[in-house]
Amino acid sequence: MKIHLDADKCQGHGRCYTLAPELFESDDLGNAVVRVEGELNGDQLKAANLAAGNCPEFAIVIGV
Ligand code: F3S
Repeated sequence: MKIHLDADKCQGHGRCYTLAPELFESDDLGNAVVRVEGELNGDQLKAANLAAGNCPEFAIVIGV
């Protein structure tokens, strides 16, 4: 499973990089940037799902 971030949907709410700073960081505008590439390990998958579930814009999708 991988992280798919829709940059067009991201409005900079920041919950992703607050909840999962190992996976996401902020750009200069406060919008999300994914920090990891490729397949997620177990801990990363848990954190990614937490971030995805807390994004008010549904900008983060965890999938293949
Ligand atoms: Fe953007 Fe959602 Fe994170 S709006 S900054 S992807 S919580």
